[in-house]
Amino acid sequence: MTAKILSGAKIANEIKQEVAEEIAILPFRATLTVVRVGEDKASAVYVGSKVKTSEELGIISEHLHLSAETTQAELLEIVEKLNTRDDVDGILVQLPLPKHIDENAILEKISPEKDVDGFSPINVGRLWQSQNALAPCTPAGVIEILKRSNIEIAGRHAVVLGRSNIVGKPMAMLLLQENATVTICHSRTKNLAEITRQADILVAAIGRTGFVRGEHIKEGATVIDVGINNVSDIEFARELFDETELEKRLNTIGKRGYTLVGDVNPKEARERAAYFTPVPGGVGLLTVAMLMKNTIEAAKKRRIMMNGE
Ligand code: GUN
Repeated sequence: MTAKILSGAKIANEIKQEVAEEIAILPFRATLTVVRVGEDKASAVYVGSKVKTSEELGIISEHLHLSAETTQAELLEIVEKLNTRDDVDGILVQLPLPKHIDENAILEKISPEKDVDGFSPINVGRLWQSQNALAPCTPAGVIEILKRSNIEIAGRHAVVLGRSNIVGKPMAMLLLQENATVTICHSRTKNLAEITRQADILVAAIGRTGFVRGEHIKEGATVIDVGINNVSDIEFARELFDETELEKRLNTIGKRGYTLVGDVNPKEARERAAYFTPVPGGVGLLTVAMLMKNTIEAAKKRRIMMNGE
């Protein structure tokens, strides 16, 4: 079997187009404020792409880049100010934060109405109670990929590999809401391959390069790769890519020093899965598209509520 590749670009563009059409008829301009603390390299790239996409779609974006020495008290005060600012519709504090700041304390401070990441305890609770909630962008994007690719979710066995607050846990809940039978696996799971081989839909979000091998995948499954890792080792690259891709990847390593690889071994997934999301060009693009969607949703709700309509 050669898996069909599910293009994140195509689906992300569809969603961004829909958001742009909605923005065009709004009687106000929405504002998204992104807060970044310190110099984490990956965070700089992610935030750059969030700001750029906001601007492309006509969302006003504000980027607050704070020094790594910012104290927790200072950051709490900044969030509090953003909570009370009438022109700000969405607040996103990019994670990870420097070690001296308690992430939970910050996430708890973000007003649930402006929490476009869906990380505040109120939104997490609402999601678990199947109430209307702003859902975390990456797992919400995975659901969009599945639905828009006509991959059945209801009644199927979905296995989520990873239990993070950002992806694994909300992913499991969103799949459950779509009536999948859901299993969550993690680093302490015994007989992992035995469980993942039962998955009709396998979502990998563990942050371990190429961890999911052919033996973990049921023939004909849908494999969603949420991981983003750097590979610079040429021998490792040979294990990960088949002849259709290897040369291009080796060129990328030569030029940039690394190539992006997910949590799934793409060569082996292509041989066993029916559908597979690539890295790069898969789930990652959906995260930003869903953030735009959440921002407009938050803006509409808050501004319409404010007007008492
Ligand atoms: N770090 C990694 N992914 C995310 C995300 O979706 N939102 C935020 N705020 N930080 C992240």
